[in-house]
Amino acid sequence: MEKITIEQAAAGELKTKPNESALGFGKIFTDHMFVMPYSADKGWHDPAIKKYQNFSLDPSAMALHYGQAIFEGLKAYRSQDNQIRLFRPMANLTRMNVSAARMCMAQIDPGQVLNALKKLVSIDQAWVPAAKGATLYIRPTMIATEAGLGVRPALEYLFFIILSPVGAYYAEGFNPVRIYVTDKYVRAVRGGVGHVKTAGNYAASIMAAVEAKKLGYTQVLWLDAVERRYIEEVGTMNIFFKINGQIITPPLGGSILPGVTRDSVLQITRDWGMDVQERPITITEVMEANTRGELEEIFGTGTAAVISPVGELYYKGEAVTINGGNTGKVAQRLYDELEAIQYGYKPDPYGWMELLA
Ligand code: COI
Repeated sequence: MEKITIEQAAAGELKTKPNESALGFGKIFTDHMFVMPYSADKGWHDPAIKKYQNFSLDPSAMALHYGQAIFEGLKAYRSQDNQIRLFRPMANLTRMNVSAARMCMAQIDPGQVLNALKKLVSIDQAWVPAAKGATLYIRPTMIATEAGLGVRPALEYLFFIILSPVGAYYAEGFNPVRIYVTDKYVRAVRGGVGHVKTAGNYAASIMAAVEAKKLGYTQVLWLDAVERRYIEEVGTMNIFFKINGQIITPPLGGSILPGVTRDSVLQITRDWGMDVQERPITITEVMEANTRGELEEIFGTGTAAVISPVGELYYKGEAVTINGGNTGKVAQRLYDELEAIQYGYKPDPYGWMELLA
């Protein structure tokens, strides 16, 4: 990558920092952003860190019409000794290339982009919250910017990174969320794009989420698109079950997102010596386990969602309460373990954390 041009905002242009106890999710953005255009003839060029600002886009920019748009989400944490730590950034950046390949978009150089990302976070490091549970959410994004209405891979893209200090994704915080299982709508089919982080997956999920919300549910749990029996994922997180002592999560069959937190939870629970299975699981198996009193816990995993316990599941007219509507022991232990690794309360045995410098 060429040398990054840095145009820092003037002191008088810096925004006021928010109250760390009321951040919400993705509503506030920092002072700077990273941008880097691509064209088929020049490749990636003119990388720059500049003041957070609007883009100028041709109204026929292909991302706006045909959805060549992909993104990632990762976080920076401030440790007690005031170091800024990134959680598994290369896992996100290499996944972005899987998304780019599936969407016929340009490949990035993950190592070079990581350097740019570190530089950006370093410039805006005063924005990394110190409060427990608050982090700096990092959103690398790529959109097709070429002007034109032909449906084909664009020849021009814009890669950018924006930063947002965040608290919990759900209004519930770490408290259990209520989940609505839909068999009316589907998220993804095998052969489609469900396994990559492309904007359209989220657009397609909104209607089901709106309907669930009207009924008092936080999120939707998706079933497979063919038989509408097998559990896939929740709109913004992967999902885990604890049934009769066993931890179960659906396998990466091509229609669910290979979550970085999902992968971390699999490694941690296996290291704890738990019986962990990645295998197909039907909604009927879950409901029957509940009837037998064997459904001990459900929790979601995600960068934004962290570990989110599920307190209630609604399926076909039946609402079941999980673990008395309380956070389960495994969800709590995982939350504490991840938090300890991420904020540096304990050593990181996995080599997951990367310091800025
Ligand atoms: C994340 O967890 O980083 C996500 O991208 C999920 C969501 C906020 C879209």
